[in-house]
Amino acid sequence: MSYRPRIPLATLLSDAVEGQAVTVSGWVRNKRVSKNVGFLEINDGSQLAGLQLVFPADGIGPAAAEGVDKGASVRATGTLVPSKGKGQAFELRTETIEVIGACPEDYPLQTKRHSMEFLREKAHLRPRTRTFSAVFRVRNALAMAIHEFFQARGFLWVHTPIIAASDCEGAGELFRITDLEGKDFFGAESFLTVSGQLNVETYASAYTDVYTFGPTFRAEKSNTPRHASEFWMVEPEIAFADLDDLLALAEDFVREVANSVHSRCAEDMAFFDQWVDKGVLGRVSETVNKPFARMTYTEAMKILETSGRKFEYRVGWGQDLQTEHERFLAEEYIKGPVFVTDYPKDKKAFYMRLSDDERTVAATDLLVPRLGEIIGGSQREERLDVLESELDRRGMDRAPYWWYSELRRYGTTPHAGFGLGFERMLMYLTGITNIRDVIPFPRAPGQADF
Ligand code: 4AD
Ligand code: MG
Repeated sequence: MSYRPRIPLATLLSDAVEGQAVTVSGWVRNKRVSKNVGFLEINDGSQLAGLQLVFPADGIGPAAAEGVDKGASVRATGTLVPSKGKGQAFELRTETIEVIGACPEDYPLQTKRHSMEFLREKAHLRPRTRTFSAVFRVRNALAMAIHEFFQARGFLWVHTPIIAASDCEGAGELFRITDLEGKDFFGAESFLTVSGQLNVETYASAYTDVYTFGPTFRAEKSNTPRHASEFWMVEPEIAFADLDDLLALAEDFVREVANSVHSRCAEDMAFFDQWVDKGVLGRVSETVNKPFARMTYTEAMKILETSGRKFEYRVGWGQDLQTEHERFLAEEYIKGPVFVTDYPKDKKAFYMRLSDDERTVAATDLLVPRLGEIIGGSQREERLDVLESELDRRGMDRAPYWWYSELRRYGTTPHAGFGLGFERMLMYLTGITNIRDVIPFPRAPGQADF
């Protein structure tokens, strides 16, 4: 026997006809009962809008709704009739209602509005609210849009390991893996991966166009609204390609996945636009569909130095681009996404390709308004001798990178790749300002319950 599910509300209501007899299931989101009529709004997560169950006096009667509490799971039967309420074509003239799971008065989502902070403590119940229901549908749609973008272009999805032997970024933000006695489990140091890049590069050296998409981990102490200890990263890697090819790919990618989410999640996006971040839909849509601005790090520093703006952190060649600088560039100077390229080599990771000036590397960050960096990437150092002298210059041990170096010995190619912070992209699209609110069960310093 094949799977015969309940019909989700979204499916049911998309081709509903007046007078149709239906059975629906869901959780009660709102309840309103008067002398003459009762209403229960139920939702099953398949779409933002719920279905209004009506309990008319000349039918089942309001008393049948009276006994059902907010938060309860129910199954109801009845007939679809045109709705008098706005925002919905049909409502259900209820004939039977069955409480599957009752919900007592201490249900935490009793009132209509809750703060995001309160709901963060209720990570098991928050997907039943409108905001979070919308967030996680958009998260699903964005993941699908990402796969479709790459699959349509023949990229191979590679499942890079979560347990890693080395620190790809060299930033020392690793979670170390031990057994319960605190001993290295694998007989040598191993870590939760900070990025799938080094492994995925090996597959680009065989399949040409590849990507990895999965969880990554950083033991960053920085407790900011944009950093999580566990987050997802999308990392394409392309062979026979340089930094310009990479910028073109990244721009197409951001544009296409944004447009795809906008069209797939129109109802949810309209909700964010109205209730979470006024105008976010139009702002993102307009700016991602224009060509992205580009500037070098050197130009970016000049702009900051002559901006007349007081920044908390120093600006000048050789300084870090801090979030406040990144936001100024994207939000106020360009007013849209901007690629910054050609960073000082000492500000970036060992694997980035050294440029002819020998001071900068062929790196790029994509900065967007309100967030700053959402993508980090580069052309990779494909010349074995240059790679090895860079490892030496940094005082890094060559040994763990023996396989990475062999890719440069055996049929090397110019190649490039980037990493998009999946949650940062979600924040950009929805206007949600804290990364903890776009992750089902967020992990951040001091937060790993549930
Ligand atoms: O810039 P990052 O560190 O780049 C890399 O890891 C490269 N290996 C990627 C590559 O070239 N394949 O990280 C990439 C992106 C950042 O731009 C940011 O959006 C996101 O990952 N990111 C985080 N997101 C949430 N929480 C954190 N702690 C993050 N750290 C980085
Ligand atoms: Mg970065």
